[in-house]
Amino acid sequence: MSPRMRRRIAISVAATTVSVMLAGCGVLNATGSSDDASPTKGNDITVGLLLPEKANTRYDQFDYPIFKRKVESLTSDEGKVVYANADADAAKQASQLQQMIEDQVDVIVLDAVDSHGIADGVKKAKDAGIPVIAYDRLAEGPIDAYISFDNELVGEVQGRSLLEELGDGLDITDKIVMMNGSPTDPNAKQFKAGALSELKGKVTIAKSYDTKDWKPENAQANMTEAIDEVGAENIVAVYAANDGMAGGVIKALQAAGVTDLPPVTGQDAELAAVQRIIAGEQYMSVYKSYPQEAEAAAEMAVAKIQGKDIQFDALTRDRVDSPTNKDIPSQLVPVVALTKDNIEDTVVADDIYEVSDICTAKYKAACSAIGLK
Ligand code: BGC
Repeated sequence: MSPRMRRRIAISVAATTVSVMLAGCGVLNATGSSDDASPTKGNDITVGLLLPEKANTRYDQFDYPIFKRKVESLTSDEGKVVYANADADAAKQASQLQQMIEDQVDVIVLDAVDSHGIADGVKKAKDAGIPVIAYDRLAEGPIDAYISFDNELVGEVQGRSLLEELGDGLDITDKIVMMNGSPTDPNAKQFKAGALSELKGKVTIAKSYDTKDWKPENAQANMTEAIDEVGAENIVAVYAANDGMAGGVIKALQAAGVTDLPPVTGQDAELAAVQRIIAGEQYMSVYKSYPQEAEAAAEMAVAKIQGKDIQFDALTRDRVDSPTNKDIPSQLVPVVALTKDNIEDTVVADDIYEVSDICTAKYKAACSAIGLK
């Protein structure tokens, strides 16, 4: 995280303090109850955070630290976050969840490795009186709320960007390869559906893969197979669901001797991907504002424990259905396409990266060429 982002978080801490003070004035709602009329807990709370994996950089680099700071700032530094990362292992995550139940944390924020398999654990937490908020991936079972991005939109943005880049000369016989995410992640299905809604009828999907554990090396192996079967020269573009896999896809293309790379999509605005975009190796990524997602999740968790129902409702105005539950209170954060043209207005403006993080010696010339300094 850049020093500027740290400063930005510090500023938002100051703003939050003001709103907490205002809330303390006892603003009444329509039913006459105060926003913080019956807090069930004070600031001395423990929030459990379960994140799914480490092969993609976002979780340790952004989600966890941003979430932790926000919980601390909302609780005058008295609240603490207990964090466990499952390393893409669903059984490991189930036992991490069980441990948090035994430790009697106050609330659990869960980004599931296997959204279906974790449902029993979610139910156990609920039975133990611990609310569960699904984070980024919609876990099954009796969750209290869900915070994510508009994941179908992520796929649409990826698909539309590819078509725009391929341009008018595109023919339905032109072949693309689809590298989708893990089948245990419901987001992967939504990304794929969103992308297909744009691509269907416009190109031929020559090969389509679901990628075990979202691992870049698995995407690389699948891409190597696709190249063998379809022929590198016949692939006009690659839909890769995220940046980690885009990296694997590009490695496979380069290993097959491709120098003029076809457009490859991604998602997450990983630093390596932003650099590949500048260098012309990856066409686009999708920028999803981690602060918006992680800070809203922290606010939801703290409001839930402290019984601040009005704040909680304001944070969860959307509704979604999971395979097990209907009308789950939710917040879906919008996303934008990230290409060479808007690096400054997205990841740099939001203090995700400093220009100096991106424009290292290797990328200096490419950065100057697009006026990034
Ligand atoms: C997230 C993506 C991430 C992928 C792999 C998805 O659920 O929404 O941002 O790249 O998982 O971890």
